[in-house]
Amino acid sequence: MEPFMARLIERRLLSGNQSTKRVYHLAFAINPRCIAYQPGDALAVFPKNSSSAVERVITHIENGVAIAQDLQQNYCLQHLTEKFCSELRQRLSPEACARWDQLGRDLSLPDLLEQFSEVHFTGAELLSLLKPLRPRLYSITSSQRAYPSQIQLIVAEVAYPNSWGKITYGVASHYLCETLNVGDEARVAVIRSKFKLPENDTAAVIMIGPGTGIAPFRSFLQERAARHSHGSHWLFFGDQHRREHFYYQQELEAWQKKGVLTRLDLAFSRDQDYKIYVQDRMREHAAELWRWIDEGAYIYVCGDAARMAVDVETQLLKIVHKQGEIVDPEEYLKRLKRAGRYQRDVY
Ligand SMILES: Cc1cc2nc3c(=O)[nH]c(=O)nc-3n(C[C@H](O)[C@H](O)[C@H](O)COP(=O)(O)OP(=O)(O)OC[C@H]3O[C@@H](n4cnc5c(N)ncnc54)[C@H](O)[C@@H]3O)c2cc1C
Ligand SMILES: NC(=O)c1ccc[n+]([C@@H]2O[C@H](COP(=O)([O-])OP(=O)(O)OC[C@H]3O[C@@H](n4cnc5c(N)ncnc54)[C@H](OP(=O)(O)O)[C@@H]3O)[C@@H](O)[C@H]2O)c1
Repeated sequence: MEPFMARLIERRLLSGNQSTKRVYHLAFAINPRCIAYQPGDALAVFPKNSSSAVERVITHIENGVAIAQDLQQNYCLQHLTEKFCSELRQRLSPEACARWDQLGRDLSLPDLLEQFSEVHFTGAELLSLLKPLRPRLYSITSSQRAYPSQIQLIVAEVAYPNSWGKITYGVASHYLCETLNVGDEARVAVIRSKFKLPENDTAAVIMIGPGTGIAPFRSFLQERAARHSHGSHWLFFGDQHRREHFYYQQELEAWQKKGVLTRLDLAFSRDQDYKIYVQDRMREHAAELWRWIDEGAYIYVCGDAARMAVDVETQLLKIVHKQGEIVDPEEYLKRLKRAGRYQRDVY
């Protein structure tokens, strides 16, 4: 991994005004003579803490200014270590410990230091108790053939109420969606992936990517369109509401009109009083889907690992078993995997 600095040149809200989650399109400028990436690759982003969070910490630390830069770039202020928590506990009175228990264990460092301002840490002590700030990965959503000097991302800002009821943001997604300003540079690195388009440019491709899982598939479609590929493309996409979350709608519909995107099946889960997910669309089109697979299509899945990817695989197994009359569908999918015809990029 070779980190480099990339300037943020665009950030655009993709989700609608009524959406409870915020999803952004971001573009970073890169020098195409030095930086190369392939569809399917990811960008590692090294987040920074906001200046206001750092300020709130250093006012409680003796000579805090000396560690301000280090705190901003290298230490996680959001998620705290057990070591820090037990050290803090030892320095608090039993009454203060009881109050902390009531507030909840998932408070950030700035909140804790404000709540328990009677406690003192030296800068060195504090740094030794914090987690390092780790990079996060984001699937690149552009193709370098279409955008030679850009890397584009789609980022969902993680936001949830902590046990204290305070809205808490994901470190890197908040950095990308709020803290970093257009015109600022971020430290990033291109991460090579095995999630790759078929070498055969005419091979058909089935892409299943709800939510931000659409990211690599926009890159695949841009790449295949730029190469004038004759392969067929079938995208299963979905999110909560069509009006709020149909990301890249115009581009997808334009590709459909041009014949680049052969099929687009959409599953908006919350537009009716029962859930519709991508695997429901797969089930509805099971015979056609099996025909594509049987004729050699490559299957790609991207997005949520915990639920979506599991349920999509279950649906695929059913389709292989029922439509293909394959007795051992698990073995069949394993064979597809070994041949690179079933690839997943899930998180
Ligand atoms: C290969 C790969 C590709 C990826 N591509 C993308 C992409 O294209 N777009 C994208 O947006 N993301 C993508 N991700 C996810 C991304 O890397 C980050 O994991 C995500 O942005 C969250 O990071 P964060 O730093 O904002 O959150 P963190 O600070 O890491 O916080 C996340 C943590 O917050 C807590 N949390 C989150 N929600 C709740 C809740 N509701 N209640 C209680 N606690 C909660 C959990 O402890 C969770 O582990 C990808 C991940 C991988 C591995
Ligand atoms: N907590 C946050 O604020 C937050 C924000 C961003 C991302 N994330 C995490 O980041 C990942 C990606 O998030 P995302 O915004 O891209 O989208 P997502 O949360 O994965 O949701 C995308 C779509 O997938 C649907 N879905 C839920 N369960 C599914 C299942 N079992 N099978 C198929 N589809 C299913 C969702 O429906 P329903 O939601 O209607 O069930 C929604 O329509 C997820 O792991 C998510 O938890 C969390």
